[in-house]
Amino acid sequence: MKEKISEIESDILKESLSNAKEIENFRIKYLGSKGKIKGLFAWLKEVPNEEKREAGQLMNGLRNKAQEIFDTAKEKLSTTSEEANKIDLSRPGDQIEVGARHPLSLVRSEIIEIFNRIGFTVSEGPEIEDDWHNFSALNFPPEHPARDMQDTFFIEKGEKEMALRTHTSSVQVRVMENDKPPIRTISPGRVYRNEAISARAHCFFHQVEGLYIDKDVSFADLKQTLLYFAKELFGEKAKIRLRPSYFPFTEPSAEVDVSCTICNSKGCNVCKYTGWLEILGCGMVDPNVLEASGIDSKEFTGFAFGMGVERIAQLKYKVNDLRLYSENDVRFLKQFTGGI
Ligand code: DAH
Repeated sequence: MKEKISEIESDILKESLSNAKEIENFRIKYLGSKGKIKGLFAWLKEVPNEEKREAGQLMNGLRNKAQEIFDTAKEKLSTTSEEANKIDLSRPGDQIEVGARHPLSLVRSEIIEIFNRIGFTVSEGPEIEDDWHNFSALNFPPEHPARDMQDTFFIEKGEKEMALRTHTSSVQVRVMENDKPPIRTISPGRVYRNEAISARAHCFFHQVEGLYIDKDVSFADLKQTLLYFAKELFGEKAKIRLRPSYFPFTEPSAEVDVSCTICNSKGCNVCKYTGWLEILGCGMVDPNVLEASGIDSKEFTGFAFGMGVERIAQLKYKVNDLRLYSENDVRFLKQFTGGI
């Protein structure tokens, strides 16, 4: 008798009661009118009189225990499902973090805006270029070192050998081929060079190319346009200086420095104590380049310039590791805000 009771008791404790179905089965199996506990009570009649009292007590205890287990499981089930169904419409929603514009996009937009204000349109070209647009039409002699495998990523596309453009000057050629002067355009875009990645060099970066072609465009126009640009970008006090340089596609060519905005030209480690920072290359479009694209170099002259967006961003935001721009670290990206 006692054995039977403790057997049922240990069965009860082993039952799983995690859902409504299991709970109901438990009720039928133990507490129902045909359940095991009811069955025990029926058996009580056969227990000898002197043992009846004790047996009755044990059975009552067992029934109460089963009932208690059943009640608790049922209550637990109803509160969890109630909780799941309860929607608190007054709760504030989860905060969605607002993204920020990438520093290179900010600088790119600012450069575009500055040139838009003096009538330059925006033009774009492909990143996968042929030799003609990236080199030949820009007056690169075949043996020019910039064509060297070390600088350029060459790719095969069908029969044709193509390259990832090494500069946005290729867009100049495309614009000159398709439009007639007067041409006043800037071409922002990504460029690629076969370089080992470090803080100062990357295998891809961004440039903005500028091109102005019309009758009687002079070097003075170039200088004044670039001075205007420097003042708009770095402030009214900005000065520029031009140093003679060489590019195959311009003659004469120059490199342009802007007065160091970080130390006010007093000399600091960013400008290497010279008071000047290099920002771009420029020059008068070489007549060969005009002719290669079908523009009469006797009738028209023009100037061109090209600048690195990362370089300008570095000066504006004092970020001196190029790798940061493409690593997508939110802690870095979060720090830049600007008008959209
Ligand atoms: N294409 C040159 C470069 O990638 C930059 C440049 C220099 C562009 C002088 C020009 C220019 O249009 O006139 O380094």
